[in-house]
Amino acid sequence: MLEDTAINPLPEINPVSGSLPTDGPVLEIWGGHRLSGLLPVSGAKNAALVVLAATLLCSDECRLRNIPELVDVGRMVQVLTSLGLKCRSQGTVWDIDGRTVDRAEAPYEIVSKLRASFFAIGPLIARMGEARVPLPGGCAIGARPVELHVRGLQSMGALVQIEGGIVHAAVPGGRLKGARIYLDYPSVGATETLMMAATLADGETVLENAAREPEVVDLANFCRAMGAEIRGAGTDTITVVGRDRLHGTDYAIVPDRIEAGTFLIAGAISDSELSVGPVVPEHMTATVAKLEAIGVKIIQDGADVLRVVPGDRRIGTDIETLPFPGFPTDMQAQFTTLLTLSEGSSVVTETVFENRMRHVAELKRLGANIRVKGRNAIIEGVPFLSGAPVMATDLRASAALVLAGLAARGKTTIFGLHHLDRGYERLEFKLQNAGARIERLDTPDSQAPVPETAATLS
Ligand code: UD1
Repeated sequence: MLEDTAINPLPEINPVSGSLPTDGPVLEIWGGHRLSGLLPVSGAKNAALVVLAATLLCSDECRLRNIPELVDVGRMVQVLTSLGLKCRSQGTVWDIDGRTVDRAEAPYEIVSKLRASFFAIGPLIARMGEARVPLPGGCAIGARPVELHVRGLQSMGALVQIEGGIVHAAVPGGRLKGARIYLDYPSVGATETLMMAATLADGETVLENAAREPEVVDLANFCRAMGAEIRGAGTDTITVVGRDRLHGTDYAIVPDRIEAGTFLIAGAISDSELSVGPVVPEHMTATVAKLEAIGVKIIQDGADVLRVVPGDRRIGTDIETLPFPGFPTDMQAQFTTLLTLSEGSSVVTETVFENRMRHVAELKRLGANIRVKGRNAIIEGVPFLSGAPVMATDLRASAALVLAGLAARGKTTIFGLHHLDRGYERLEFKLQNAGARIERLDTPDSQAPVPETAATLS
């Protein structure tokens, strides 16, 4: 018999801030409104974070454009500032002066709040010959170890000790040596860490079974713009020839394929014809293929805009998350929402992260018919969802709940917005402009019962 997921009784205390997620603002969404126009796509969060970390490699000044205004970006800039870099911004443009880097130790308080700041270990050791970075620990979606990053750096000559939760890496002689490194799994973060480290290493590094994600390619393009020699980014074998120094550059981050995919689903789920852009269409292949399998037409308008044209009916389909170019794990929760409102059965299999089904319990509060068995969500389409108070449990789960709210009858109140604010730039304004009824409130409407929390149950 299949295991059923219980209704989630425990939206947890945020392990990072220690605060109850119900403390903060909420989003109220009145579903059933048609959207129209163009939903604008910001710069890619995951590319921006790693490109910011890569400015540690630069012995000069860099100008970065199209950096989304997100809580996570602010945290990465805090890491850079704590290491001595001078960072100034005007909107989405950041000027980063890498000449002044003078510390090799990333502060625990920030790394513990932003997992991606661990990726600073690669550029830091390459530039300074030493790096002390706290272990990032697990997060809401899984344990997320970093042994592939560490083993790769060791292959390049780093001596690594982990003590008191801090990874201390140092290179005798001060310079990493190029190496041939096979990654047991095409980890995005490990590929990025090692590619950055290799740009200033002595000799050639070959990364085999490397991640092929567009954000890896964007990082490689940024490093090349600084003078790095990198070939093969976007394939499973990346070759980097180390340089003595990297120079300043002016670079624009690619559009966020996950935000774009979320917006395409917003159109599909609200039965609205709308446009989404800018996008790089080749980054969207898996998402577009699954939307079409469900019965939603996606038309390319010009070079970088996709138009959603909903069909008469939506039909369930199966999805399995995989490394790029497979279906992205960061779109899994949003598609799960769409499939709850698609006819028939669907099976969604999460193969990348071990604990990425927590949105299911929240979708069930809205009337979804989903059972979870291990890494599979078995979905039976329902004709409608009904608005209810729900708790966002991680970043993409939050987006899934917003999408559900757009389609649900009545009002959906979403708690735990700190997750959403990590990765979606001004989401409610963008949706409002397209015609959605969505509002951020500082304190929850007194009518909305707050979902139970760990604290209220204990
Ligand atoms: C990045 C993205 C994240 C996305 C993920 C997969 C950023 C900031 N985040 O995360 O949004 O969901 O890619 O596309 O870019 N693993 C190990 N050992 C390691 C490293 C990873 O076992 O040393 C495992 C992880 O636990 C996970 C899998 O590999 O199960 C994929 O992780 P990885 O590709 O490294 O994801 P991140 O870089 O953390």
